[in-house]
Amino acid sequence: MEVITSVKDMRESIFKLPRSIGLVPTMGDLHQGHQELINCSSTDNVSTIVSIFVNPLQFLPNEDFEEYPRNIDRDLEILKDLNVDLVFIPTIDEFYPPGFSTYIDVEKFSDKLEGKSRPGHFRGVATVVCKLLVLCRPDYAYFGQKDAQQVLLIRQMNRDLNLGGSIVTIPTVRDVDGVAFSSRNKYLSSNERKAARTLYQSLENLQGLKSSTPEELKNAISSALAKEPLIQIDYVNISDPDTLEELNLIEKKCLISIAAYVGKVRLIDNLVLDNTGVKF
Ligand code: PAF
Repeated sequence: MEVITSVKDMRESIFKLPRSIGLVPTMGDLHQGHQELINCSSTDNVSTIVSIFVNPLQFLPNEDFEEYPRNIDRDLEILKDLNVDLVFIPTIDEFYPPGFSTYIDVEKFSDKLEGKSRPGHFRGVATVVCKLLVLCRPDYAYFGQKDAQQVLLIRQMNRDLNLGGSIVTIPTVRDVDGVAFSSRNKYLSSNERKAARTLYQSLENLQGLKSSTPEELKNAISSALAKEPLIQIDYVNISDPDTLEELNLIEKKCLISIAAYVGKVRLIDNLVLDNTGVKF
């Protein structure tokens, strides 16, 4: 496994890597969700690249960029045991050199849901992922369904800019208590961790609620979350899973998205259901 920190070395190494190439972009502090993405890439491809970069552009000024967990030595230990060929770990100056001034805005998806709550976040995500896709030229790039909006936005950018590879979505990986793996789970106290389970449970409990309207689904989630004093809802949204347009009626399937503060920790989760309440 080769570790590369400069764009120049990366460009040279890419051309020597046998195809097909899978790319797994990460911000490090690797957990089982990342490991699943990496395993899928190494099953599907001859070569796998993992990038580790805590991208300052996708954090708002009041967010946790400074505190975001960084654990490169541990990450490299984990990666050694997986089937990874290249690890790309640029510094901020290497990836955004002084004078950097080109940004990607995916208009269709940037201002809804997460984009509304975290203005500018997706401009940062799209810019960094575009740079990684252009540099690594993967045949496939892997992202988790937990960040459903991020995946839609990256697919749209990939299409619009003819970046070439395919975007692969992997189902959300959950811990034994149902909480979706996320680096931010580390910030939770033990009581908050218990409360965090309610997010997933409130989604799971919707299964089998036949012929419910979006309003009824929203109310069911909101009242389940309201019972948990450590949880403050940011949004509960029922939308079309392909366009993120908010739905008044579920004709085929819907994406149910939750963003909530558990204590001070902001978590997101989602589920796709069809119109008979069956999980997709
Ligand atoms: O999902 C993430 O971890 C990040 O948004 C990504 C895709 C690595 C871009 O920084």
